[in-house]
Amino acid sequence: MQALIFTGIQASGKTTFYRERLFETHIRISLDMLHTRNRERILLRACLEAKQPFVIDNTNVLAADRARYIVPAKEAGFRVTGYYFLTELHEALRRNSRRMDKKAIPVKGMIGTFKRMQPPTLAEGYDEIYSVRLGYQNNFEVEPWLPGGFMEKAQLPITCPICGRKSNFRVKELTEGATLACPFCKVKLTLHGHMWEDVRRELQRATEDR
Ligand SMILES: Nc1ncnc2c1ncn2[C@@H]1O[C@H](COP(=O)(O)OP(=O)(O)OP(=O)(O)O)[C@@H](O)[C@H]1O
Ligand SMILES: [Mg+2]
Repeated sequence: MQALIFTGIQASGKTTFYRERLFETHIRISLDMLHTRNRERILLRACLEAKQPFVIDNTNVLAADRARYIVPAKEAGFRVTGYYFLTELHEALRRNSRRMDKKAIPVKGMIGTFKRMQPPTLAEGYDEIYSVRLGYQNNFEVEPWLPGGFMEKAQLPITCPICGRKSNFRVKELTEGATLACPFCKVKLTLHGHMWEDVRRELQRATEDR
């Protein structure tokens, strides 16, 4: 039995992903539909008791939001999988302003959710965590997510495209659009385009090697 717990800001693609991939197999539990925590609790309990696979389709940005599902699901013998929806804020804002399915969320609210985000970690009790990104052709790219402990400490060697020397950077610093300084030639590198794609591939390789 699978319990899938989504984490992602508004308009990061959670409900679309559910519709595309999980509609036939998993019950969707979402505050957008249920409106109250009481109804949510009743439906969650029913799924756990019936051993029915389900998805929690809320923003779930805090570890405390997720604990209310992870703990009882583990107790009921479910395999708990996290899906972390990664999106650039500006892209989510753009999708949000164009959405037809529901009213656009105020920009301030979305920025607030983005800032409060606590990425999921295995320490919360997940059996596994995947990241989900919207790809170039609006396809979903699902990859194993780098667990928190690894993210905190890990370093990755990056080759400077100017002087060709390698130096270590903290994985935490390696995000799309980040600026890195080469300690040898002092050039400032911005992670976008090809440079970002290369780094992203290295990060992916590092997770798979663990
Ligand atoms: N793969 C995709 N291709 C094209 N458009 C997409 C895709 N995923 C999401 N969108 C669009 O982005 C908008 C938001 O997507 P969605 O409703 O899935 O987000 P959400 O994470 O469920 O948001 P919320 O937390 O507010 O419910 C929708 O208008 C949707 O059509
Ligand atoms: Mg949704």
